[in-house]
Amino acid sequence: MALMSSRVASSTEDFRLNREAYLARVADLQRRRSEASAGGPERARRLHKQRKQMLPRERVAALIDPGSPFLEFSHLAGEGMYEGVPPGGSIITGVGLVSGRPCMIMANDATVKGGTYYGITCKKHVRAQRFAWQHRLPCITLVQSGGANLPDQPNVFPDWGQFGTIFWNQIRMSGEGIAQIATVHGTSTAGGAYMPALCDQNVIVRNQGRMFLGGPQLVYAATKDVVDEETLGGGEMHSRVSGVTDYLAESDGHAIAIVRDLVANLGTPPAQRWKTLPPRPPVHDPNDIYGIISRDTRVPTDNREIIARLMDGSEFREFKPLYGETLICGFGRMMGFEVGILCNNGVLFAECAMKATHFIDICCKRDIPLLFMADVTGFMVGREAEEAGIAKHGAKMITAMACAEVPKYTLIIGASYGAGYLAMCGRAFKPNAMLMWPSGRAAIMGPDQAATTLAMVKDDIHKREGTSWTTDEREAYMAPTRKTFEEFANAYNFARNTWCDMVIDPLETRNVMGLLLELAGRTPAEPTEFGVFRM
Ligand code: COA
Repeated sequence: MALMSSRVASSTEDFRLNREAYLARVADLQRRRSEASAGGPERARRLHKQRKQMLPRERVAALIDPGSPFLEFSHLAGEGMYEGVPPGGSIITGVGLVSGRPCMIMANDATVKGGTYYGITCKKHVRAQRFAWQHRLPCITLVQSGGANLPDQPNVFPDWGQFGTIFWNQIRMSGEGIAQIATVHGTSTAGGAYMPALCDQNVIVRNQGRMFLGGPQLVYAATKDVVDEETLGGGEMHSRVSGVTDYLAESDGHAIAIVRDLVANLGTPPAQRWKTLPPRPPVHDPNDIYGIISRDTRVPTDNREIIARLMDGSEFREFKPLYGETLICGFGRMMGFEVGILCNNGVLFAECAMKATHFIDICCKRDIPLLFMADVTGFMVGREAEEAGIAKHGAKMITAMACAEVPKYTLIIGASYGAGYLAMCGRAFKPNAMLMWPSGRAAIMGPDQAATTLAMVKDDIHKREGTSWTTDEREAYMAPTRKTFEEFANAYNFARNTWCDMVIDPLETRNVMGLLLELAGRTPAEPTEFGVFRM
């Protein structure tokens, strides 16, 4: 392995200004996270406590092994999406160690609208399940949910990817031997009752957990029977009479202890398939990343300097360094795991696409996971590029990336626009995880290009119709498009919509990748079969 050199001068004014700008972004990320972690309104949290219940985050903390990390997914989902609803989408999802075994944990937050499922809650839950399925992780659902959020019916009920998919995933994962375990901590109605009912094993808390397909109000409306919640669906009834639940716990803490015990009996966890080395910190200080990333989106960042601050020992064996130079490809280690890196350092040319195809093929043959670090305005356009066959070479790169069966990760560090976003393993290509730095942004095209494109379309219409517009009118027409595209591209818009899994501080990258690779390495290797390459 070759030690990477660095030309970063950390004493310059430019470095200082970049660093200040990035630290402000990191502070903003922390603020958003703590707002999301707080959960529902004070009134709801108080009520929760008065009922002697643990708050959802306390349940998660009690479930995972003391001192172990919790790799949270879609933390900022739904941010600003529904009035009066905090970020998080009324559910907490993430991977944590339970009795020494990594599990996907999904915990309803009943302090947010009774833990009911909005459209984004469904998307977040389904995404967590997909990750669990791909990594064959046991699923633990801590249930306390009123089921569907009724006013959000169109986004919850009718389609694939909504509430029904949560059930489908549970059932099919169970069929594949991926353990499904649930606890019922509070009143859980309709979908909230089906989730634990569809698990392999479940636990209910006495005098607190309740499950029914229709609550007392619905029962009265349907049959005129008056029945209280506990009689209708309490722990005693379900554990002794209906047999819907398997274990009766005395408290939240007791239910969680039972789950930890159930996980301890799941058998031997799968072995790590990759040979790892002890992790080594980079030689070049990762803190420098803040000062390296350009604060001005029009000034490119030298991403070789970024790679030098992410790899173990700052060691990187670059592949074809003299060819297609605006796409850096190469091998290195992150937290002891070997990875194949593809990182933009400018626009994608035909040579870059051919190099990427070759590189991905090598990684697939050697079972080396791929990390796509996106910072790209797109593929090269223009006559020369078209004549060089950019379309067929780009198609080869996309085919190779789409077919690669090695674990794939996307990290958007800067811009990620248009077909560049897709070719660098955009969400549509199902990376194992999609991460964004606060400086990451993605859209069909950049804000200026989008505004100019639409203005030029309008120019042509004016010409055709013999009309005209002033420079001011043209600018007034372009400004809103520019603003909309800027807002769209923002990393937090991606996080809000669950289009990415997490927005992370650059300094968290190595740890997050280490955890993700550790999980992927415990799945069986799949052979890659490429589609037809257009030569
Ligand atoms: N859809 C939309 N909002 C709902 C809801 C639903 N299904 N169920 C509850 N909410 C809202 C309430 O309006 C309330 O909103 P607010 O905070 O703005 O006042 C909030 O969730 C909390 O409800 P509350 O009843 O005060 O909390 P709780 O902890 O005492 O009880 C439930 C929670 C979920 C058990 C209870 O509200 C309930 O039984 N809801 C009906 C559930 C149902 O029938 N679902 C059918 C799904 S198909």
